[in-house]
Amino acid sequence: MKQHLTVVTHPLVQHKLTIMREKETSTAVFRQLLHEISQLLAYEVTYELDMTTRRIETPLEEMDAPVLAGRKLALISILRAGNGLLDGMLGLIPSARVGFVGLYRDEATLQPVQYYYKVPDHLDERMVIVVDPMLATGNSSAAAVDLLKQSGAKNIRFLCLLAAPEGVARMKEAHPDVPIVTASLDERLNDLGYILPGLGDAGDRMYGTK
Ligand code: URA
Repeated sequence: MKQHLTVVTHPLVQHKLTIMREKETSTAVFRQLLHEISQLLAYEVTYELDMTTRRIETPLEEMDAPVLAGRKLALISILRAGNGLLDGMLGLIPSARVGFVGLYRDEATLQPVQYYYKVPDHLDERMVIVVDPMLATGNSSAAAVDLLKQSGAKNIRFLCLLAAPEGVARMKEAHPDVPIVTASLDERLNDLGYILPGLGDAGDRMYGTK
């Protein structure tokens, strides 16, 4: 991917996103739409997967048919909201390998602290897609990518539903080699670090917590 930020403007993505943003949308509908939208976003973020060919026989003749090359891609969910995007993506890419990164924010330093980290092996040979619905300050995203690079990942992409300009700038500064794919670049963050106009707390909305 050449550009650092790709906004997926497909009408289906934008329509579903609008319903997800609305405060009256129920948990069940929010979850279903997230599932659907993540498959559309998965299409975009995997566009540059390496291909090779395999000799196959159709009922009529032989051909060299295109197939994915190399190791299975790795999807890395940033807990907990990342799991909502992950579920839909696995519907489209069921053979993907999956990892999880758990980070919390230290209230004194405001820096992300790791509490869980489990990722597939051979990350250096896989396309690695980090999923988190909300790219807000970008601190936890940048920290997650730091950890993945320490584990050898080289070909990393970041997939989110909404991005704030602050988060995009933070990622560009920390990881200019990591393209971001999102359904919307929103306006800004509020004082509490929420994206405006946003959709609220993505984890709360998908799991029905407060
Ligand atoms: N995380 C969320 O769930 N929502 C925001 O607006 C920002 C971060």
